[in-house]
Amino acid sequence: KRFAIFASGSGSNAETIWQAIERGDLSGECVLLVTDKPEAKVLERADAYHIPSFSFTPKAYVSKRDFEEEILVLLQALRVDYIVLAGYMRLIGDVLLEAYPSHIINIHPSLLPAFPGKDAIGQALDASVDVSGVTIHYVDAGMDTGPIIAQREVDITGCDRQEATRRIQAAEHALYPYVLHEVFNQQEVFK
Ligand code: GRF
Repeated sequence: KRFAIFASGSGSNAETIWQAIERGDLSGECVLLVTDKPEAKVLERADAYHIPSFSFTPKAYVSKRDFEEEILVLLQALRVDYIVLAGYMRLIGDVLLEAYPSHIINIHPSLLPAFPGKDAIGQALDASVDVSGVTIHYVDAGMDTGPIIAQREVDITGCDRQEATRRIQAAEHALYPYVLHEVFNQQEVFK
């Protein structure tokens, strides 16, 4: 399958996906990186892996519909099958949801439906839970609400923020390339 990664930040998940492709562990072709943050570190990482990128400034558009329509033209020109969100800090709108039904995937750093939205790791720490984790799910119009594909628990008992983040990100980096391989190759993925 051909896919695009959407990211807004550092891009550590994007990088593990590109590494998995290079190793031959993930059969799929990443044909584009899309970012809504022209200064994001993920752009440097994309260059290092020779992934073409499109960066845009949402404020330069009248509405979400306008920038999603522009992105959709690119995705269709590149014959993209799947959109993979990796720290894309924006809700996907109707234009892309309608063009890619059940073909947009997100990763979230909690065991959904617990702790949706921003700073899921901080939310878990504030709630003093011993176990949090990672969820990979299909994207719908809600905030972190779509059908769950896979989850992995992470023990964060007694962790400070830095250690909880380290453990959860390590779980993300192990799980995302594996699950994407399964989804792209239409095998069963169990929770
Ligand atoms: C990850 O924790 C992901 O689950 C969340 O945003 C973070 C992105 O991190 N949606 P990175 O940019 O991949 O390093």
